[in-house]
Amino acid sequence: MNAPRKLHIKSYGCQMNVYDAQRMVDTLTHENFVETANAADADLVILNTCHIREKASEKVYSELGRLREAKDDAARAGRDMKIVVAGCVAQAEGAEIVRRAPVVDVVVGPQSYHHLPELLRRARRDGRAIETEFPVVDKFSSLAPPQPAAIRARGVTSFVTVQEGCDKFCTFCVVPYTRGAEVSRSVVKIADDVRRLADNGVREITLIGQNVNAFHGTGPDGKPWPLGKLLHHLAGIEGIARLRYSTSHPCDVDDSLIAAHRDLPALMPYLHLPVQSGSDHILAAMNRKHTIAEYHRIIEKFRAARSDMAFSSDFIVGFPSETDDDFAATLALVAEIGYASAYSFKYSPRPGTPAADMQGMVDAATMDQRLAQLQELIDSRQAAFNVGCIGKTFDVLFEQTGRRAGQIVGRSAYLQPVHVMASSDIIGRVLPVTLTGLERYSFFGDLSAEPARTGSSRHNHASLTTTTGA
Ligand code: 5AD
Ligand code: SF4
Repeated sequence: MNAPRKLHIKSYGCQMNVYDAQRMVDTLTHENFVETANAADADLVILNTCHIREKASEKVYSELGRLREAKDDAARAGRDMKIVVAGCVAQAEGAEIVRRAPVVDVVVGPQSYHHLPELLRRARRDGRAIETEFPVVDKFSSLAPPQPAAIRARGVTSFVTVQEGCDKFCTFCVVPYTRGAEVSRSVVKIADDVRRLADNGVREITLIGQNVNAFHGTGPDGKPWPLGKLLHHLAGIEGIARLRYSTSHPCDVDDSLIAAHRDLPALMPYLHLPVQSGSDHILAAMNRKHTIAEYHRIIEKFRAARSDMAFSSDFIVGFPSETDDDFAATLALVAEIGYASAYSFKYSPRPGTPAADMQGMVDAATMDQRLAQLQELIDSRQAAFNVGCIGKTFDVLFEQTGRRAGQIVGRSAYLQPVHVMASSDIIGRVLPVTLTGLERYSFFGDLSAEPARTGSSRHNHASLTTTTGA
């Protein structure tokens, strides 16, 4: 057998890209590729790109500039380096990428990754290959599953895609155009994936999808199952200690999901529920299809189901026509909900989306000022949430060794990193830890003899009240 060829893959953007990158590696393993951390050494470099904001797309073109030099160096050393652009920039810009960056050999959209081996062969034969169709065949059925050794090497937590695409058409967002219409995978296939991961040491699964709670995959009974029912089913798989899901749309929260949070100790009480803006007028212009009052009611339902629930969100500042009053409403909402964490972005017009043609662009200085103000508030709320956790006992899933000798790092239910001094056999176990210290966003703690009182998979109703405004 020939010596393995080296593959370097770099992902930008969302969790889905991280997951897709792993599936591309799994598929190319069968083509005799092994991963390398160094692009300069590689025979194949894949950029798995993101198109969500302009900055994210521009990064790809700067990286391609650097790769041109690496490819020239490789050629001088007698090696042929192939460069692939995958992901949402590939989908959105297609052949335009090759015009701007002729160094690219293959352009492949997110729905066609299972064709990668064939596209590489085509590029070798014809000099270049481009595929940005939305094929009818489910790519997941054709992508190779991970080998046991690859699963073990990736650790005790894993993503599993359950749906892709989105039918919501928020006016600012490219996802419905780059990832296509909403498609859910079947329950049986998802459960098979989760079982394979659990059998190889994975303890925590995060179900991912662009609009994950729009999930309606076919169940073993032939009927469409909502996400809550899928979560119930997966919680029964031996070895799975924790379940999460991301990213959710407020309008797709149904009773089954609320019930899952009430009934499933393994379902972590932490939810990413983006709201984007605190103003009804802006939400309508964004086509978010709900009001702030409705958002509050949804949050209350989760809190009633499980009182140790905490939330995170995404926000966009400077959406066209956003006034000072609209922005003040966003600040008020952040203060009121008391998010444990949140991401905020400046509005970035995306070609082909309705908002890109809207009147009332907010000037750059106002956007900068609003972003800084919002981030400061979010940081202070997050700090308050974290400080409120000190002295409490939380369940922690231990994931890996820490930077200091003897240290093991895990995560709480709220994804906070927690460091303890312990032996590495605790990796893969969920243990109660009393949090004793906090440095920036990382906690230090002691393994505790007492069971956890909050964020626990033993499920209780102790309340986290440190950050809720009212
Ligand atoms: N401009 C700024 N932020 C955006 N997002 C999506 N599209 C845009 C855009 N055009 C943000 C939203 C979304 C997150 C993934 O990225 O907040 O929830
Ligand atoms: Fe984009 Fe999310 Fe809106 Fe879908 S629901 S269009 S993915 S922001």
